[in-house]
Amino acid sequence: MKTYIFDKLPDGREVTAYEIGSETLGATILNYGGIIQKLLYKGTDIIGGYDKIEGYLVSDGYQGALIGRYANRIRGAKFTLNGVEYRLAANEEARGNHLHGGMEGYDKKFWAVEGKTDCDGEHLVLTLTDPDGNENYPGTVSVRVTYSVCGADFSIRYEAVSDKDTPFNMTNHAYLNMNGIAGDTIYNETLMINADEMSKVDENLIPVAKVPVEGTPFDFRTPKLLSRELMFCDDEQMQKGQGLDHNFYISADEATLYQGKKLAKAAVYTGALGALTLYTDKPCVQFYAANFMEGAYPFKGGLVRRRNGALCLETQFAPDGPNRGEAILRAGDKYDYTALFRFDD
Ligand code: BGC
Repeated sequence: MKTYIFDKLPDGREVTAYEIGSETLGATILNYGGIIQKLLYKGTDIIGGYDKIEGYLVSDGYQGALIGRYANRIRGAKFTLNGVEYRLAANEEARGNHLHGGMEGYDKKFWAVEGKTDCDGEHLVLTLTDPDGNENYPGTVSVRVTYSVCGADFSIRYEAVSDKDTPFNMTNHAYLNMNGIAGDTIYNETLMINADEMSKVDENLIPVAKVPVEGTPFDFRTPKLLSRELMFCDDEQMQKGQGLDHNFYISADEATLYQGKKLAKAAVYTGALGALTLYTDKPCVQFYAANFMEGAYPFKGGLVRRRNGALCLETQFAPDGPNRGEAILRAGDKYDYTALFRFDD
């Protein structure tokens, strides 16, 4: 494993980069935000990101970062748990929502890092203690994330234990492009999402109902072209999301065994470089088509950031879970979920 100083934060703190990999896949991870800064598939970089830490600070896209304590939205930036109302930061101001953990989510934390190599590949273990009351959430949570590369498999395992009941829902916000991040938009790529149902959302992107995908533009049960026409189609849900930005309930009909766990096949994403299959034991995945990926600050190597220039497949519990009594990590219980990105070899 190679490590080097990636950059410095404006306050002088050093950000370190760690490289793990195999012949097929190489990942560069930062201790700041647990950010996947580079993901080389057969030598081509397929992930959005920046050359300098400044890019991650000025852009609000959560590029490649770990997301927590609660990924996605919490309506009205509040929830009630065990009879107590908790008020969170409404950092998605226009919609009044709490988004991706608040003002200083896991994407902005320094993580302690430890690397190891064994017969199952190369692993990077990141740990964080998220104190009681941080971002107004209850309970001190000990969080552990393991990034692994083994052959053509890239996985992220999220483990946590809390000393009080708390909402908990982690993901990673990787923007992937299977044409290569320097390649085309996603318009000539295909996606299959193994989901019969999705969350219908209101104007603030908060789920209001679980509905069948059948007969809608959200039916990805067989591989579908991510065409421009689809992204901009005249559909009420598509317009609410300003494009594809929706939660899908994964059907658990096909599975693989990985690191001793049964993971369901969630999606297959295919571009010019090949196919990527996503497996997880989380119940849902957010498909976000990078509808807001624009701005003056360039990506790595001066690349222009373009709307629909990549996509995110964020494994998760459904958005706004705490307001439906879902996605609560009980004191002393073990949180343990995995996302496996299995590439063609
Ligand atoms: C959300 C988008 C949001 C993006 C922020 C995604 O997880 O679903 O609505 O704009 O994160 O980069």
